[in-house]
Amino acid sequence: MKKQKQGIIRSPKGMHDMLHGDIRYLERISEIAREVAEFYGFLPIQTPHMEDAQLFLRPLGETSDVVEKEMYTLRTKGGDFFALRPEGTAPVVRAYFENGMGSWPQPVKLYYEGSFFRHEKPQRGRFREFRQFGAEALGSDDAVLDALIIKIAYFILREIGFSAKGGPASGWKNNLLVHINSIGDKACRPGYKKELTNYYRKKFNYLCKDCKRRLKDNPLRVLDCKEPGCAEIKTQSPQMIEHLCEACKTHFKSVLEFLDEAQIPYLLDNYLVRGFDYYGRTVFEIFLEDGKKEAVGLPAEEKGGEHQSAQVALVGGGRYDDLAAILGSKPLSAVGFSMGMERLIHEMKRFEIKPKAHPQTKIFLIHIGPAAKKRSFTLMEELRVAGIDAGESISRDNLKTQLNIAAKIGAKLALILGQKEAMDGTIMMRDMDDSLQETVLQSKLVEKIKAKLKKK
Ligand code: HAM
Repeated sequence: MKKQKQGIIRSPKGMHDMLHGDIRYLERISEIAREVAEFYGFLPIQTPHMEDAQLFLRPLGETSDVVEKEMYTLRTKGGDFFALRPEGTAPVVRAYFENGMGSWPQPVKLYYEGSFFRHEKPQRGRFREFRQFGAEALGSDDAVLDALIIKIAYFILREIGFSAKGGPASGWKNNLLVHINSIGDKACRPGYKKELTNYYRKKFNYLCKDCKRRLKDNPLRVLDCKEPGCAEIKTQSPQMIEHLCEACKTHFKSVLEFLDEAQIPYLLDNYLVRGFDYYGRTVFEIFLEDGKKEAVGLPAEEKGGEHQSAQVALVGGGRYDDLAAILGSKPLSAVGFSMGMERLIHEMKRFEIKPKAHPQTKIFLIHIGPAAKKRSFTLMEELRVAGIDAGESISRDNLKTQLNIAAKIGAKLALILGQKEAMDGTIMMRDMDDSLQETVLQSKLVEKIKAKLKKK
């Protein structure tokens, strides 16, 4: 709990109110993301915020940081063991089977957005409640879908305004870069793990405390460590790419060819493993590489679902052909990504990318006296229905105050309703630029406003 100020209850640590300023950024991201996803045939889905905890335990990995220490779980009075969803992929796979999507034309393509919960150490770029936009393509192992998923994530970021082009006056550049790797499948990964374990065993004494434990539980996780000593040892360690079986090699090559075709810049990151057990074959993260200080960065010791780097990822994803089987369902090949909305908002501000513009209110309705106030109360709704974007401050009765507000929001026209006008069905229309005023019939108001605004 945050420190309470004189009995005032505060929001839980790592969970924040999001006010309209940030929500405008969020809206811009969602609008673009939805548009791109829908264009490529993805359909929206919403899954519950709470799920049976079993849904996450094995798919994410009993030894993953999220399952080990970051899940919010609760036992209900009825004895159910639930978890606040820490991620969206396992719930989408559950929903696929529960809703009979196996009988739909494959692949089934779904997108989602909403809040996720991880009990992490809160710091910049890492929250306990955070929002993601994600997309999953289920029911095919075609490499083109891995590339499509990466392409969609990449082009959403491009549409938002991140790119390889130079920024405004400051001349900064921000460069989106996809870090990509293949971690093989059930056939070839065990051999690699064995070789990795043998290599690290020889260096055991030089590993950090966590890696000594990781080596026993899941040797791939050792590659995720950013402790300087472990990072140094990693540089000589065996690489998965050299241990891929023919099928995985062909698949990965094909993914890269599609990325080349779409001219998406990528970096082969041989040590990218990601933090959940459900991944197989393609894994990727998207970073913003730039020279600007203050990038969303985290100290090395922090571990999440993602691979750690000097900067944290904006997007993470990959193929998870074994997830359904881990859950005890029929096999289901699938690939997906999700992007962190708070991190995107932070980067948008840093790179002066505009949020969603709010339409400027050009009309302001002012009342003088009780009868006019009553009439304003209904007139405002008539304007809304007629599609006129009007503002008012109906709880303020002072004329000067209302005029000041009209000027402050930059209204072009003030509609002034006095007692007399309220009685005889007219209204004064004042041009805020030259203060010229004319009286018009309320029944003709909408067409008068439209004609007047056309000239502005
Ligand atoms: P993830 O890497 O754990 O993957 O999260 C994806 C993105 O969510 C990260 O790149 C980051 O932008 C954001 N994120 C994660 N944790 C936090 C946090 N504590 N605070 C703020 N932002 C955060 C997944 O969640 C997978 N379900 C992705 C996926 C979809 N794989 C296949 N399909």
